[in-house]
Amino acid sequence: MKSISLIQFLIEERRAGHINAELSLLIEVVARACKRIAVATNKGALGGVLGEAGTGNIQGEAQKKLDVISNEILLEANAWGGQLAACASEEMEDPQPIPDMYPKGHHLLLFDPLDGSSNIDVNISVGTIFSILRCPDGVTEPKAEHFLQPGTTQLAAGYVVYGPATVMVLTFGHGTHEFTLDREVGSFILSRRDILIPEETAEFAINMSNQRHWEAPMQRYIGELLAGKDGPRAKDFNMRWVASMVADVHRIITRGGVFFYPLDAKIKSKGGKLRLMYEANPMAFIIEQAGGAATTGRERIMGLQPTGLHQRVPVFLGSKKEVEVATHYHVAADAAV
Ligand code: AHG
Repeated sequence: MKSISLIQFLIEERRAGHINAELSLLIEVVARACKRIAVATNKGALGGVLGEAGTGNIQGEAQKKLDVISNEILLEANAWGGQLAACASEEMEDPQPIPDMYPKGHHLLLFDPLDGSSNIDVNISVGTIFSILRCPDGVTEPKAEHFLQPGTTQLAAGYVVYGPATVMVLTFGHGTHEFTLDREVGSFILSRRDILIPEETAEFAINMSNQRHWEAPMQRYIGELLAGKDGPRAKDFNMRWVASMVADVHRIITRGGVFFYPLDAKIKSKGGKLRLMYEANPMAFIIEQAGGAATTGRERIMGLQPTGLHQRVPVFLGSKKEVEVATHYHVAADAAV
């Protein structure tokens, strides 16, 4: 079978009118940066990249050395090409402008440079997540407010998993596609086109240690899955939790399943655990384009009007039927009070 490189795929997407030249260049640059992150990640202890950076991010979380390195790689790669108006990163409080000496483009790039970074030191898959928006017309110095666009306006979203293989999953709103890095050649090669997530599943992903803090509808839903064949769902369910969203989502993209990071009493004041702009929106776009669903447990994630660059939300995503059941339990419980 003739292999199709990411570059060839991007040219075809341009010809189909799905993307313009600037967005195509932007994806190429992000892919190149992610190859560098893959190299840094693969070096592990030999590259001196493991352990704490000794700094904290805007969320007050301790940064790993690889969080900082990955953030710098993405910023540096994207500064000079003329494809961006500004970047925003989970690791930085404010958007990063494009330096004055470089031309500016029409796109806004948001990224979580190294998702699941608590897994780096134990050699478990981590990843990069990104989302691309159009810079509002007439805005030459984008501020945080210009990034606050609903997920439905995303032009592209993707993630890269640095696992046994380095894999990029991408959508421009015309299906979800997977590319695998051929390390010898140095290119991402199309490995799955138009991915479809099975509507039904018997596999769920959640951090069960938070169970006692969940809201009642979540307790009910997971309780029913755990009851298996003998419970109201009359079916046994299996559970997986990698604690790297990229790896959990990639499993769902590959064989179906559902992922939950619900609201719980410990994180209620923050609105959730995962970030709307860097994690929930891009993953929701990818999952919906693969035939799945993504909600906060109450409403569609991509329909939310963001209120802050670092806003957090509950996340339910994956196989459509299960997301619908869990969401229905929350909506019905709200309606009953
Ligand atoms: P981070 O980007 O700070 O490493 O966060 C990881 C996220 C996500 O990837 C994962 O699903 C979740 O946090 C894991 O959270 P718990 O440690 O609470 O299970």
